[in-house]
Amino acid sequence: MSESLTQSQPNPISLQLPQPNFVSVDNPSGEDCDVLVIGLCEDRKLSAVAKQVDQLLGGSLSRLIDRDKISGESGETLLIAGPGAAGQDSAASLVLLIGLGDRAKLARESAFNLSSTAIRALGGKPHRKVVVALAEAFPAACHDAIVAGLLFGLECQAIYRTKPAIEVPDTIALAGIESDHITRGQILGDSVNLARRLVNEPASVVYPESFAATAESLAEQIGLSCEVWDEHRLVEENCRAILAVGGGSERPPRLLILQHRGGAEGDPPLAIVGKGVTFDSGGLSIKPSDGMVDMKCDMGGAATVLGTMHALAKMGVKKNVIGLCGLAENMVSGSSYKLGDVIRTRSGKTIEILNTDAEGRVVLSDTLDVAIGFKPKAMVDLATLTGACMVALGQEVAGAMTNDQSVCDAVMLAAREEGEPVWQLPMYQLYDEKVQSKVAEIKNVGEGRWGGAITAAKFLENFVGDTPWVHLDIAGPAFTDAPKPHRDAGATGVMVRALVRWVESEVQA
Ligand code: BES
Ligand code: MN
Ligand code: ZN
Repeated sequence: MSESLTQSQPNPISLQLPQPNFVSVDNPSGEDCDVLVIGLCEDRKLSAVAKQVDQLLGGSLSRLIDRDKISGESGETLLIAGPGAAGQDSAASLVLLIGLGDRAKLARESAFNLSSTAIRALGGKPHRKVVVALAEAFPAACHDAIVAGLLFGLECQAIYRTKPAIEVPDTIALAGIESDHITRGQILGDSVNLARRLVNEPASVVYPESFAATAESLAEQIGLSCEVWDEHRLVEENCRAILAVGGGSERPPRLLILQHRGGAEGDPPLAIVGKGVTFDSGGLSIKPSDGMVDMKCDMGGAATVLGTMHALAKMGVKKNVIGLCGLAENMVSGSSYKLGDVIRTRSGKTIEILNTDAEGRVVLSDTLDVAIGFKPKAMVDLATLTGACMVALGQEVAGAMTNDQSVCDAVMLAAREEGEPVWQLPMYQLYDEKVQSKVAEIKNVGEGRWGGAITAAKFLENFVGDTPWVHLDIAGPAFTDAPKPHRDAGATGVMVRALVRWVESEVQA
């Protein structure tokens, strides 16, 4: 069959992310702007900026608080006419008040979510200049999260609408945030948005080749080393598992290897590995339509890896880190891999395919094997791996499974500090027999559907050797159909912030 015209060129992926111009201001209440954003805690004590605004407004802020028009409850917003609208020169036309909740609980999570909520509350109106004066209530260690949250709030899933869901201000002026915190926050926000954009783009735009090509050009811009294995190299490298999953697609699979060399030469790296199934139709074990609609999100793990590597490189983190993405499209055709097939993986272990929809673990088997070749001192993989993990933990919590409790504790601590919920599931030996095959070493499904998230992790454990390893099943939190005040529906960029923090916190052995 001749290749169709639309498929002959690798589609360039546009990565035009929200880029307001960030500046800092010393005197936010005296700044000529469209909107001034100020926070109010539950204790209703006015910040220095709020006091100035109150004065400029003749005490109306205090009266609104006294009359319970705003309480300071976390996430509450109120948009009022600013001193500029009341005739003051050089002052804000509008003031957005945002509730910050309990002052004692202000941390990176609330900084990120509340700044995002605030910028989203400004909604569809175009604003030239927004002044954000939220830093005062937060410790300095949260200031970059405020900036990251602002960028996060501006990125939406409506990337194919002429009128954007949220207008990006030309300038965001930040009060009370030092310039290196601003820079760090910008990198963090951009990196999360990069991961989100890659997931939100449809599978006809993001496929193995275009994902790899985009990563390659990005890597060059930011000084990451990047290697892409095409289908021929994958044959040479015995990556038969990746090739099997990608075999049914017109879009050939790829393996992406990114390296950030920020640490001492010869210092063993940390490894992060992502499932990059750019579309999961289920293959011959085809999904029903309802189960397939969001399956462009099945490269969410790979997107998180790229987003994290982007952040580490741009921040110049002084660690050696490798990022690997197994990229394949799981499709239905005459060349699809089949039920009953036995694949000899790169590691030499054979796997029996009993369900072609359990493809993520198959792609990861080879990807993890390539990763351990770099002798990493610890490895984290991220995968939208199982519906079973969502049954266990719901749509907002990632599942963690590990062969090394101390690395798992470190990853979970980093995630907790960033406000990204993760819950650990057990890896008892008794689960091992559930993935044993009668014809090969292992099979790609468990016995029945019980413990499906864990049996998937048990399958993966076969390919990590004795590397300390944490598997994060992000099937729930990677993609959502419900918008929240602090984020649009669609891709979430989950775990980019947590992984950056984990890498930074990881002590050199
Ligand atoms: N990509 C899916 C898992 C998934 C489901 C991610 C929903 C995000 C939202 C994965 O490849 C899959 O199909 N898993 C199967 C495994 C089963 C066949 C053993 C599942 O969970 O049903
Ligand atoms: Mn699947
Ligand atoms: Zn999948």
